[in-house]
Amino acid sequence: MLALVGLCMVLLVWWFSRPKKSPTTVPGPKPWPLIGSMHLLAGYETPFQAFTALSKIYGDIFSIHLGSAPCVVVNNFKLIKEVLIAKGADFGGRPDFTRFHKLFGGDRNNSLALCDWSSLQKTRRSIARTYCSPRFTSLQYDRVNNVGEEELDSFLAELSRLPHGQSCDVKPAVLKVCANMFTQYMCSTSFPYDDQDFQKIVRYFDEIFWEINQGYAVDFLPWLLPVYTGHMKKISHWATEIRQFILSRIIDKHRSTLDYNSQPRDFTDALLMHLEEDPNMNWQHIIFELEDFLGGHSAIGNLVMVTLAAVVKHPEVAKRIQNEVDTVTNNGARYPNLFDKAAMPYTEATILETLRTASSPIVPHVASRDTEIDGHQVNKGTIVFINNYELNQGKDYWEEPALFKPERFLTASGGIIKPAHFIPFSTGKRTCIGQRLVQCFSFVVLATLLQHYDIRAKDGVKVHPGCVAVPPDCFKLVLTPRK
Ligand code: HEM
Ligand SMILES: *[C@@H]1O[C@H](CO)[C@@H](O)[C@H](O)[C@H]1NC(C)=O
Repeated sequence: MLALVGLCMVLLVWWFSRPKKSPTTVPGPKPWPLIGSMHLLAGYETPFQAFTALSKIYGDIFSIHLGSAPCVVVNNFKLIKEVLIAKGADFGGRPDFTRFHKLFGGDRNNSLALCDWSSLQKTRRSIARTYCSPRFTSLQYDRVNNVGEEELDSFLAELSRLPHGQSCDVKPAVLKVCANMFTQYMCSTSFPYDDQDFQKIVRYFDEIFWEINQGYAVDFLPWLLPVYTGHMKKISHWATEIRQFILSRIIDKHRSTLDYNSQPRDFTDALLMHLEEDPNMNWQHIIFELEDFLGGHSAIGNLVMVTLAAVVKHPEVAKRIQNEVDTVTNNGARYPNLFDKAAMPYTEATILETLRTASSPIVPHVASRDTEIDGHQVNKGTIVFINNYELNQGKDYWEEPALFKPERFLTASGGIIKPAHFIPFSTGKRTCIGQRLVQCFSFVVLATLLQHYDIRAKDGVKVHPGCVAVPPDCFKLVLTPRK
């Protein structure tokens, strides 16, 4: 009897999740019932390695069903530009994963990165632009620089409290300096490193960043959801705690001192003022936008950790960064700052090379209307994966792609050169809004760390291909003060 009920269940599930009619004329593997072609992704460290392998069989554009979801994968720069730039307006959506809803108060449209394109998104991006993409010669850029410098004292004090000469957790200190740079820059507030609530929130942001960077079968096989009840609850809990902290420790004070007749003091002011002026924005939008951008600090903290992983594996890289920082700061007479960047191209190139080798995925796009790629029909709702991994690691694009070589981003005269196909922050309508902040803060934190410490690792240093995140509890490092 049980077996019979079981069989009926399986048949039911299969019926409701059988592959929908072929979305497209694009060639690709034949889907199995229930799982589509998910089995073809098994055995790879990142799905993008599987996509590259499949592109050798089916061509640079191929279709694949993940669960019952129709997907298309584009694997070369020409096709990628067609999707992101020429037809950007046709591919402005994002996948409708349950996890994405859970992370953002039950509606992924609350998230700047995971929402579908809309006029609201246009507004939100434009408010953020001034603050989160500051131009080199702007007042905001000067503020980023000042904040970067101001936060270094407490960072170095925290590092000096770590046990030197033995393996220790460096990530919490790195995350906290990034968090304070963000809260100081965006909200004119920073927190003591021993503040327990601050520590907890930094940890939750980091948990969420790791979470967002994982692919889960349940994203494509929603009937697995019951298995993930506990997990989904945990995600909602992190988000709720973060919300509480931002409201009580940041927004409340800000609102009470806001002067609507002056220039906004910071991003938080700008958001609050916008709320008064724009009838299409509500309180929810403002809070979520601030939360989203504050969360960006985790991305930078993780990027710094991944860069340190490369640096400990390549001691010659560390030496060259230390030479640059010693030279520009007159042997450590001061901290490095953003205006030293031009004189420290190797340091900048190391971060670019880390972005290349980490090869973090571009968030999947979704066709928002029936359209075409390279003459192939692609129906509304199709998920489009951009194979950035191939762009970053493919032999057609790089010499010796497997090697970690910051020099590849340097010109003969010591400038920075980035090939057009290097798009770690994507391109087009939905390109990353935080990329300037990434380049500023990761530079300052990395350069300051190496200015003060020699860094090595006693134990293995594990990083994950196709991912700029390392787990919340990651590898340990050994810090030895220089001089
Ligand atoms: C290691 C650092 C980072 C990397 C590699 C990175 C990369 C990316 C990529 C590839 C996208 C997807 C673009 C697309 O779908 O076409 C994206 C979107 C986005 N990023 Fe970043 N990012 C980083 C840090 C940040 C930071 C620090 C912030 C905020 C301050 C930020 C804010 C955003 C936002 C708001 C979006 C969504 C834009 C949209 O969908 O309209 N990112 N990022
Ligand atoms: C998200 O926003 C898009 C564009 O405005 C809309 O079409 C879609 O229905 C929204 N999704 C949800 C779950 O509200």
